[in-house]
Amino acid sequence: MRTQAGGKTILYLPVMTGYLTVFLLLTCYPISAFAAEKLYVGPDTCGECHEEEYKSFKKYAKKNHSYESILKMKPGLQDKEFKECLQCHTTGYGRPGGFVSVEKTPDLKNLSCETCHGPGSVHAESEDPDDIIGKLSLTQCERCHNAERVADFDYKPLIYGGAH
Ligand code: HEC
Ligand code: HEC
Ligand code: HEC
Ligand code: HEC
Repeated sequence: MRTQAGGKTILYLPVMTGYLTVFLLLTCYPISAFAAEKLYVGPDTCGECHEEEYKSFKKYAKKNHSYESILKMKPGLQDKEFKECLQCHTTGYGRPGGFVSVEKTPDLKNLSCETCHGPGSVHAESEDPDDIIGKLSLTQCERCHNAERVADFDYKPLIYGGAH
């Protein structure tokens, strides 16, 4: 009898440890995943530390007026059509922490830094260059400057064009 009980205790121990591990993983995983999620912060936040790029972008880039461009054409468009414009003319539309509406996310209504460099909330806190996209390739531009559009406007975006 005694050996049987002892055997059970030994068997329970790994089972209990197993449950505990699963429990800890389930509770900790979403927290760490949430902390690492990169959200959009808008250009003014970037400008606090990158003044030169910020000033130049605000002054010269057409991206800084991209919402105006679609707003002008809104009267002739159906709601569904206008929503399609938002994907390329606002920052992060349809992505976590991205543009929702002019009222809710005024800082993201135009295209800006994070259109090219990706969502910057984590980098803006850490100041770590590894937390932001530094090296860019034309492939990243082509999601909006696609072949059809480049042909329409008869120019290919240059990698340093439209930035700062
Ligand atoms: C609190 C200050 C701070 C804020 C806010 C900030 N950055 Fe930075 N950023 C830095 C520092 C510091 C570096 C590293 C500079 C260096 O290496 O010369 C850096 C580097 C970069 C780089 C170069 C990355 C590389 O690989 O070399 C880019 C691009 C960049 N930031 C973009 C942004 C964007 C976009 C935003 C807004 C979403 C932003 N930063 C917000 C401090 C900041
Ligand atoms: C999310 C969509 C999107 C991405 C990604 C994007 N662009 Fe643009 N870009 C636009 C839109 C929209 C305009 C026109 C804005 C307007 O005039 O309303 C534009 C305008 C421009 C212009 C016109 C000149 C100017 O002064 O702004 C250049 C050049 C340009 N982009 C280059 C690039 C490059 C290079 C990349 C990649 C590194 C890139 N863009 C990524 C949407 C995008
Ligand atoms: C697939 C991405 C994409 C979508 C969707 C899109 N645009 Fe654009 N739009 C661009 C890009 C990129 C440019 C910059 C011009 C170029 O590519 O040569 C631009 C330029 C423009 C311009 C010219 C701005 C100027 O003054 O030079 C207007 C106006 C415009 N878009 C309106 C719209 C409207 C309205 C919609 C929705 C019906 C729309 N766009 C949907 C990517 C897009
Ligand atoms: C149209 C795309 C585009 C936009 C918009 C854009 N950048 Fe950049 N950025 C670039 C490119 C391209 C480089 C050079 C990357 C490389 O060397 O490969 C760069 C480089 C940088 C660097 C590194 C230092 C340097 O000059 O090489 C910083 C910092 C930076 N950008 C900040 C910003 C900030 C802040 C904004 C918004 C005010 C912004 N960028 C908007 C495309 C963009």
